[in-house]
Amino acid sequence: MQIPRRSELSINWSLDSSCVFLNHGSFGAAPIFVQEEQSHWRNILENEPVKFFEKIAPEQMLESRKAISEMVNCDANDLALIENATSGVNTIMRSLEFNPGDEILVPDHAYQACKNAIDYVSNRWGAIVKICEIPFPIENKQIAIEAILSKITDKTVLAMIDTVTSPTGLRMPFEELVEILEEKGINVLLDAAHGIGMIELNLNKLGASYTTSNCHKWLCAPKGTAFLHVRKDLQHKIHPLTISHGMTFPLGDTSRFRHEFDWTGTRDISSHCSIPTTIERMANLVEGGWPKIMEINRNLAIKGRDIICERLGIAKPCPDDMISCIATIPLPRIATGGIPLHEPDPLHELLQEKYKIQIPVWSWESPKGRFIRISAQLYNSIEEYQYLSEALATELGI
Ligand SMILES: Cc1ncc(COP(=O)(O)O)c(C=O)c1O
Repeated sequence: MQIPRRSELSINWSLDSSCVFLNHGSFGAAPIFVQEEQSHWRNILENEPVKFFEKIAPEQMLESRKAISEMVNCDANDLALIENATSGVNTIMRSLEFNPGDEILVPDHAYQACKNAIDYVSNRWGAIVKICEIPFPIENKQIAIEAILSKITDKTVLAMIDTVTSPTGLRMPFEELVEILEEKGINVLLDAAHGIGMIELNLNKLGASYTTSNCHKWLCAPKGTAFLHVRKDLQHKIHPLTISHGMTFPLGDTSRFRHEFDWTGTRDISSHCSIPTTIERMANLVEGGWPKIMEINRNLAIKGRDIICERLGIAKPCPDDMISCIATIPLPRIATGGIPLHEPDPLHELLQEKYKIQIPVWSWESPKGRFIRISAQLYNSIEEYQYLSEALATELGI
């Protein structure tokens, strides 16, 4: 089989042309103009490091927060620029205090690294993690809502809710969940790792206590860019993972939250400085800007999933309204009964070596099964999913 071509817009990316890259979801992929923008900022930094950190960087970091705040509708002062969603979840969990017996809700589709952070902190305080089992395949979003709400008790203090789940690629009904949970006095930690640039986020309207989102995934910003949004009334409780000068810096006309998160020690922030240009240049790639990018990617993910399901004779595992720009498809279980979680699935290796396809193949205990997950980004083409479906059909003997 011939390796299919990517879309016309793929000229903006430096992806290996000998590979069929269907895994934007794991680490994103920065376009060439974003890589150049980061080099530009790195040059400015090294040109005069003191001037950069004392004068230029604070101004540019504010520009970055403003650019993000316009996209997700919030006050730029409520945003902290951090490295990734894992540290966003850790920042919240390691700042909060719990009482023994407090309950924290975590769906079984949660990202394991974030769940680990919750387990670690809960253990230290004697808090209890309650796992909400959500079926997959799933017939409708109401089932996910009920699976989570059914675990609420009068001891529930916090719930971690995904915008889009990692293993199962489900766009969760997070708007409904945030509204119900926050109204009951349960703080929501929204894991929007798959968030900005992938789905519409309106943080002011949502009203979640805490939201963390990666910029290096669907915004296509450089690696190590994410934000943490903390609602104003809760900012006094939250401190960065690294305590630095900001803790004692005279307040002046700003907040302790700002001081603490704006300086966490010397680091390469060329990635964060590149955010405004990333947002603008990406939007210029298609007429209609960001809303259109999200629509194109979503339609491609839905079409790609349909092609694969049809070719393999698999029923669609969730309705279209639970699909964003990634989609998970269950595979027939292998005869040996599954692959240990930390070992690469032989099918992943085979698809990579024989067909040059880069795609996750995972086995999970809960929700139980063996899955592939496709991603759709502007550089992908429909032919790539057709190619994947043929490769899978051959290797699975269908
Ligand atoms: C739902 C979810 N949360 C958190 C993360 C962690 O992202 P990062 O590695 O950038 O911290 C991921 C990564 O794929 C994810 O899918």
